[in-house]
Amino acid sequence: MAIETVGIIGAGQMGSGIAHVAALAGYKVLLHDISEENIEHGIATINGNMARQVASGKLDEKARTDALSRITPAPSIEDLASVDLAIEAATEDETVKRKIFAQLCPVLNPEAVLATNTSSISITRMAAQTDRPERFIGIHFMNPVPVIKLVELVRGIATEDSTFETARAFVTDLDKTITVAEDFPAFIVNRILLPMINEAIYTLYEGVGTVDAIDTAMRLGANHPMGPLQLADFIGLDTCLSIMQVLYEGLADSKYRPCPLLVKYVEAGWLGRKAGRGFYDYRGEHPVPTR
Ligand SMILES: NC(=O)c1ccc[n+]([C@@H]2O[C@H](COP(=O)([O-])OP(=O)(O)OC[C@H]3O[C@@H](n4cnc5c(N)ncnc54)[C@H](O)[C@@H]3O)[C@@H](O)[C@H]2O)c1
Repeated sequence: MAIETVGIIGAGQMGSGIAHVAALAGYKVLLHDISEENIEHGIATINGNMARQVASGKLDEKARTDALSRITPAPSIEDLASVDLAIEAATEDETVKRKIFAQLCPVLNPEAVLATNTSSISITRMAAQTDRPERFIGIHFMNPVPVIKLVELVRGIATEDSTFETARAFVTDLDKTITVAEDFPAFIVNRILLPMINEAIYTLYEGVGTVDAIDTAMRLGANHPMGPLQLADFIGLDTCLSIMQVLYEGLADSKYRPCPLLVKYVEAGWLGRKAGRGFYDYRGEHPVPTR
């Protein structure tokens, strides 16, 4: 199926990133969130990120204005009726996603493909709650979407080959590299990455090192581009906690138990970079460790 118009549900870090790359690749994008303010915030983020790409010579000004003109706010879910592909990129909470699918499916074209950008939740289970398990698939982009090359494609048990091929063609057109993962909790990247981040938080919780010591150790000692606590803040601590809970419950193994300190930060609303504070405080000129 040829994709011309893409609907994106959730205009946060990931939804705005997906809108950014889809619009640059020539797709018409309809961007939906729970409020017009959130949609405007998402579009302002895209505008700022594209301006940075222009400043660094990765993009010319005309490509930027053309791409921005292809993104339209969709304040009501009914506005997504005409899309060929809908990508759900809302908060990592199955109840939230389930409600979105219940509202979205009746308005969507029956032929449209429905995708989720979930980091960890079962594609098969979510697909079964929709009217189109055959046309449902996981398209898992990484943060920040305009920068990271990889996209995981995850089939549910009922996903048809034609749906997979539509998703593959779309992602290839965005100039991303695909890896195929089976539908098990957190797929490949987060199955490996999140236990490492959770262990870094345990290392902090047990006083083995400070935020600075742990991040410096992994940056310089393991040659990681970012320390694990910096990365956790970048992902969002609520998202990190949800993924650990999905691993813990889905694999029924105590080695995936979320660190109590991660839970405490989320309960405090210190969700990382997007909230201005997490393992670092971002409200000043430079990030300052909070422990
Ligand atoms: N942050 C990451 O590194 C990362 C990477 C890959 C995938 N993901 C996945 O992408 C999804 C979004 O994550 P994010 O980092 O963009 O989170 P975020 O908190 O930045 O954005 C989530 C957005 O969803 C919106 N939302 C919540 N309920 C909604 C509803 N009912 N209808 C429409 N919009 C709704 C929120 O208002 C918010 O703008 C999650 O499933 C997450 O697991 C995140």
